[in-house]
Amino acid sequence: MSDRFGFETLAIHAGQPPDATTGAVIPAVHLATTYAQEAVGANKGFEYSRTGNPSRATLEATMAALEGAEHGFCFSSGMAAEDAVLRRLRLGDDVLIPADAYGGTWRLIARVYGEYGISHTPVDLTSPDAVASAWQPSTKLVWIETPSNPLLRIADIEALAHIAHERGGWCVVDNTFATPYLQQPLSLGADAVVHSATKYLGGHSDVVGGVVVTSDAALAEHLAFIQNSAGAVPGPFDCYLVQRGLKTLAVRMDRQCANARTIVEFLSEHPAVERVCYPGLVSHAGHDVAKRQMRDFGGMVSFVVAGGEPAALDVAARTELFTLAESLGAVESLIEHPARMTHASVATSPLAVDAALIRLSVGLEAIEDLLADLGQALS
Ligand SMILES: Cc1ncc(COP(=O)(O)O)c(C=O)c1O
Repeated sequence: MSDRFGFETLAIHAGQPPDATTGAVIPAVHLATTYAQEAVGANKGFEYSRTGNPSRATLEATMAALEGAEHGFCFSSGMAAEDAVLRRLRLGDDVLIPADAYGGTWRLIARVYGEYGISHTPVDLTSPDAVASAWQPSTKLVWIETPSNPLLRIADIEALAHIAHERGGWCVVDNTFATPYLQQPLSLGADAVVHSATKYLGGHSDVVGGVVVTSDAALAEHLAFIQNSAGAVPGPFDCYLVQRGLKTLAVRMDRQCANARTIVEFLSEHPAVERVCYPGLVSHAGHDVAKRQMRDFGGMVSFVVAGGEPAALDVAARTELFTLAESLGAVESLIEHPARMTHASVATSPLAVDAALIRLSVGLEAIEDLLADLGQALS
């Protein structure tokens, strides 16, 4: 189906034919934990819901189709999805991570895997040369976030995948910020894509989930094994919520990108703003790469407030429509202070972020209302 239909069609139909027995147009939420067997070992594809559940299988098929992958695996959170991939590493391996990695990813790799003898090297992923020279004999993996969180830096997926493969390593992309609607890393050479489905895929701030997709058969076997063995699986209703979110992903993303563009224009002109980070700006260092590998530039915007941390905290406290909260990618606009909120876990590490930085997740409210809210908060 993936080759014949456009993204929006796949989001609504891939893996989701009308129910064979009832004709229901929406996939059922299968709550059963176990499945009747006709004889020992003879079943209809499901035995026990940790191992496989029809609601999860439907979502996995849709996500694989949307990312152009052979296999999809759903997890109970984005971190559980990342963990399943990282369990492929072995004692003595090193991982290259973005110098501005999502704090939770850094914590998992540095503080959990670090305890098990797996090291990491923060690298400026905007520079393929820096990645090539950071690659050691022990390096197995480059972990890419693009656009990155919270600085919205752009990494050239094709170039970094090439460097990894030339050296016998592999390349994983966290596609949470872009979603498969804006960027399809497997088509650029990545070996696997991970998502926090909690963000744009679910899209309504009402479900925590994670996804991994890949077309690598050995990696798929590993992921299925970990999914079943460690058991960090999503519940069927959570799968349904993400499935429902996917159906409107393209229209939500189009509007969120358009709103973000208008907000970036407004902030760029504002005297209380020192610098705006958005890959859609021609002046952004990664603009050309973003233009090549993305359909549009996304709904996330970061900016540095003139006046340092006190001014940034003041802005974050004063918005009314932009809710002060962690997370991103949903219909409502959010504002946060990365240094003290999402990235507090990296505060004392080399990955610490500028305390004057504010991150916006631009939602679907009327753009005039969003501009007025930012205007009064910055005044
Ligand atoms: C880029 C990115 N990756 C992964 C995660 C982790 O996802 P979750 O919160 O669903 O575990 C997040 C969460 O904020 C994120 O922003």
